[in-house]
Amino acid sequence: MTDVGIDAIEVWVSNLKLDLPKTFAPENGEDPEKYTKGLGLFASSFPDSYEDIVTMAANASYRLMERNGLEPADIGRIDVATETAFDKSKPVSTYVAGCLEQVYGKSLTNANKGERKFACISGTQSLNDAYNWIASGRNRGRGALVIATDTALYERGDAGEATQGAGAVAMFIDEDPDIVTLSKEQGIGSADETDFLKPNQQFPSVDGHRSMQVYLARMREALEDYKAAAGDIHPDDIVYGPFHTPFPGMVKKAAVLAYRNVIRDTEVADELEAEVGRQPEPEDFTDQEDYLAALREYTDSLRDTERYQRWYKERIRPTLTISREVGNWYTGSVHVARTSALLDGYDRDRDLVGSQMIVGSYGSGAQAEIHAETIQPNWKRAIGRLDIQEQLDSRYDLSFAEYELIHDNHNLDLETDVEPLTTPDDEFVFAGWGPMGERKYQFVA
Ligand code: CAA
Repeated sequence: MTDVGIDAIEVWVSNLKLDLPKTFAPENGEDPEKYTKGLGLFASSFPDSYEDIVTMAANASYRLMERNGLEPADIGRIDVATETAFDKSKPVSTYVAGCLEQVYGKSLTNANKGERKFACISGTQSLNDAYNWIASGRNRGRGALVIATDTALYERGDAGEATQGAGAVAMFIDEDPDIVTLSKEQGIGSADETDFLKPNQQFPSVDGHRSMQVYLARMREALEDYKAAAGDIHPDDIVYGPFHTPFPGMVKKAAVLAYRNVIRDTEVADELEAEVGRQPEPEDFTDQEDYLAALREYTDSLRDTERYQRWYKERIRPTLTISREVGNWYTGSVHVARTSALLDGYDRDRDLVGSQMIVGSYGSGAQAEIHAETIQPNWKRAIGRLDIQEQLDSRYDLSFAEYELIHDNHNLDLETDVEPLTTPDDEFVFAGWGPMGERKYQFVA
């Protein structure tokens, strides 16, 4: 079978920024270190009043096409993953296609369009759909445009307000890709959970602390399922491990559990035994509570070892660099983590061709998926085209009062008219409503 994977990536960081330790924490009477040290977050990105999930998706897609010399005729499929869709019938991908047709003056009539929903994991599900479409040979030589776009807002005063964010990631999926190929093997961990949901409402109902436990449980199931399909994973064989990142502190918790899992019965566990003891096994205990206490103690000691710290610093921490500055992008979050990892490799001029990443996606409700990705010979050329740092640096820094206005402006239950804080430049903007309640968009050169 031909290799299938990600040929090009583009990220659209929305135009506003909320500084969490400097602007948000003091207004909430909180210690800024809750953000910088506890959650691992420094800022959230926010859309200006003329931005929404369509403009962010269209802007990421347009730049992706321009920078990679793609034409509408190269695209046989457009899938948008989002958990902030505003229409229960007409998919966001049709709006995005309309935007692209405006600027290219060419039609996307023969591109199959859809929208995927399963909380934050739907971006990866769309990636897998594109993989399957191409691998089946139904693509007729064309590639798939997969876009993850979200405005991840929580109700004012909700604990989740600390982890907001907004942005889009566009990816072109193709045969013989430039960046990574996807493994055929994948692992799934899924259960009917009610940790985070939006039953016909814009802002989520969240059981925050339980959602973290559900994330870890589903990830463990997905990892076991992946190992059953692909064989054991050695931690030193993974060059980076991008995970779904609702906030970097979540990944910090997940990473040590993943490490503990994959070193079980390996020479790594043997070599660490003098320092941290033997990994507790359930059959060694008659009482479940005693087993869990011993496991916690072992995990804490493992986390403190120099070997683990080095592994985390080299292979996990680089995946969090962008996320720390933008917050949670829901469906885009794991794809931001992958991009962040590859940018680290690019900035350090690393030779990564043939190296493997293990990618862990997650969506509340709840499901985790794990697959491997192999870095391809042209990855540096593709990653070198990104300008994420420039985008981050050019965001408008919101005051708290402006943040309150912008939050209200994106609250679908309120009718507020907010003057934009930035001037659109070479991008799609929301241009008002049509007669059937549809949204209108135009490109501002
Ligand atoms: N200095 C250093 N650390 C501090 C601190 C300080 N002054 N103050 C607090 N902290 C630490 C806390 O100890 C805690 O770390 P640990 O978990 O390691 O103990 C961390 O900062 C956060 O503090 P709290 O737990 O007190 O924060 P909180 O109660 O306000 O809520 C949250 C945190 C539950 C994540 C909340 O922001 C939330 O509900 N977020 C939305 C849900 C979410 O993101 N869940 C993640 C899993 S579900 C998922 O991944 C899907 C998705 O995208 C939504």
